[in-house]
Parts: sequence; C-alpha cells; structure tokens
Amino acid sequence: VLRSTIAALPASLIREVANAGIGRSDVLKFWFGEGDQATPSFIRDAAKAALDAGDTFYQHNLGLPELRAALASYLNRLHRPAVEIGIDRIAVTSAGVHALSLIDQALIDPGDRVVVVTPVWPNLPSMPKILGAEVVPVALDCRAGVWTLDLQKLLDAATPRTRIVLVNSPNNPTGWTMPQRDWDVLLAHCRRHGIWLVSDDAYERLVFDEALAVNGHAPGVLAHLNPDDRVISANTFSKAWTMTGWRLGWMVAPPHFIEQIGKVIEYNTSCAPGFVQRAGLAALEQGEPCVAATAARLRSSRDALLVALATVPGIEAAPPAGAMYLFFRIAGHTDDSLALAKRLVIEAGLGLAPGVAFGPEGEGYLRWCFAASDALLVEGVERLAHFLQRPARAA
Ligand SMILES: Cc1ncc(COP(=O)(O)O)c(C=O)c1O
Repeated sequence: VLRSTIAALPASLIREVANAGIGRSDVLKFWFGEGDQATPSFIRDAAKAALDAGDTFYQHNLGLPELRAALASYLNRLHRPAVEIGIDRIAVTSAGVHALSLIDQALIDPGDRVVVVTPVWPNLPSMPKILGAEVVPVALDCRAGVWTLDLQKLLDAATPRTRIVLVNSPNNPTGWTMPQRDWDVLLAHCRRHGIWLVSDDAYERLVFDEALAVNGHAPGVLAHLNPDDRVISANTFSKAWTMTGWRLGWMVAPPHFIEQIGKVIEYNTSCAPGFVQRAGLAALEQGEPCVAATAARLRSSRDALLVALATVPGIEAAPPAGAMYLFFRIAGHTDDSLALAKRLVIEAGLGLAPGVAFGPEGEGYLRWCFAASDALLVEGVERLAHFLQRPARAA
C-alpha cells in the first residue's frame, strides 16, 4: 500500500483534458506550457559538440564550475544585487521542478506550514504535500480579468510558525507579476519571522508590462538581498531559452544551504548531465538576443490573442503582465472548467487547460498558452467562437 499522501494527490487535470483528445490529430493544442519553437541551433550545437568530445560522465553534484560561474555573472548582471552572487550561492539542477523539489526536501518536515499564492502551477503545492506539509493557499483576486494580490492577506497567512512562503511571479497561470514594493514588504516580513521565502522565477525574463519590468526582468527577491537572508530563487532554462525538454535549471540560495544541498542532489539524480550543462553554458553566453526575441514574440502573440478574443461575446480577459498564458473566463460557462475544457477538445478541436487544475481558485477559468503563431491562435479563437455560437446541448 502506498503512503496515503500519495494516494490523495490529485492527478493532473490538464492530462485528463489532453487524454480526451487522444487519437485526434486535428486538435489545436494550447494546453501545455511550452511553445512550438525548437531550441536555437547554437544551443543544440554546444550539446552535440560536448557529446562528440566524449562528455558522457558523471558531473559534480552542484554542477559544472564553468556553468555555476556563468550563472553567477549572468544573475549579477541582470539583478545588480546588493550582495554579489558568488558561485557558492549556486547549484545546477535537473530543471526548475527539480530545484523546487530539492528545496522542499531540504526544508520541510511533516506538518510544516507552507503558504502558497494561488492559483498556481500544480507542482508548487503538490511537492510540499508529498513531504507531509500543511499547504495554505492565499488566493489572488480577479476583477475584469486583472489578477492582483492583497498583500496583507499573504502577510497574515505567513504566521511566525510558517516554514516557507512560495511565490511564483510572473505567475502560471494568471500572468500576475508582483511589484517590487510588495516583494520588499514580504521579504522584510519573512526576515522578521525567520520564514524561508522561495521564489519560483521560471518566467522572470518573460515580462511584458513596461511599468513593472526592470532591466529586462520581473521584479523579484534577488535585488535587495542581505547576505544572511533565508531567500531562495528557483529557476530554469526551459522557458526563456526554449529548452523545456533538456531538463536544466538552477537555484540561488545562501552558501550554507548550497553546502548541504549537494547531498540531497546526490541522493536524487546525483548531477545534471554534462552535455546538457554545456548547452546551458552556450545559452547564457550567447543567448541574450534569443531571450529578447522570445519575450517580444510572446508579447505580440499575447496581443494577437486578445485582439482576436475581443470579437467573441462574453469573454472576460485582460492583458497578462508576464509568463505565456491567458487565464480568462466566458460568461455563462463559469461553473465547471474541466467539463468545458473536455467539450472544447471533443466538440471544437480546441485544447485549453481547465482553470481548476491550478487550484479551486481557478475554477471557472481556462488557461490558453499563447506561445504559438498568430495564425494558429486566430484559428483557435475561430473554433471557440463557433463552439459558443451553437445552441447549448441538452445534458
Ligand atoms: C511556474 C513554473 N515553475 C517552474 C516550472 C518548471 O519548469 P521546468 O521543470 O521545465 O524547468 C514551470 C513549468 O511549467 C512553471 O510553470
């Protein structure tokens, strides 16, 4: 018999919708969090060159020293932090999800209180649950399609006996992006109470709101770090460098945490593959134009999707500040997002993720990943409009 915590974990509801479309090649798939563009060739070439040179061996638990050094200088350039980020604050991981799972393994004892801003990518609250944490959601509010956080609600939930506050900004699925002043207040609160502040920065380079963006990234925790802060940033090559399939990420954490995390990495995966790390190095060294192009393409796709959706009656949506998703709802269809998403697949050939997959706060919404060509997005909107024009079917 498996642990009851595992038996109680919900299966992915996005997968459940995708399964409704199995065997159908005509479904337009906007349900997963990745684009339709392969990784740039200079990154693929770096991995090929490493393999050709025989780079097929185990690596250091914390990652290639060259990659850790390149990450440190990348982050210092990007965030200009008050405390310079040294290699002793960096560990390379097998993607962002692994960084987060290692952080949870290192910090969580059964019964610990973990506060998470929701709706959110389901992995964030599920991983602490696997470890027996008590996960407390703090819901964003939505008015006319715009998602905001009542910061006081988060501060109240982050009681002195809270172990971790987990924030993902820009947020999957809503695109909500926390302003710097809120980060600063939250950091001060966590400092005061000895709470670990864990920031999932997967989408930090994908920010579209000029008023929020700083030096090409979203506001965050790294800029105003003190040397001893209990702050960790989890990050990934997946989104900004279009490298989802490579499984490469990293974390920035206090040196005493990094010293210990090598052991946890050893007992999980031992190390990220060397040739994949070489690809990551090339991405950091030559990838800035590619990151800028990805962000620009996503902003223009976001706008194309919103323009097309504006022609459909009953859509409630507003431009998301970051990430790659539109989290929206349709008047008259706000009670059962899973059933609606399945009907859209079966009856309209349109693949969207159900809002409830991101927590009960997401019920009634649909998530549309707009990392796709304008033509595909417009065709998706046409399918949606056609579906909504048909008379409602009897149950
Ligand atoms: C909010 C968020 N964090 C982290 C990740 C991790 O991505 P990966 O494991 O591919 O690095 C994702 C992927 O969808 C995400 O949406």
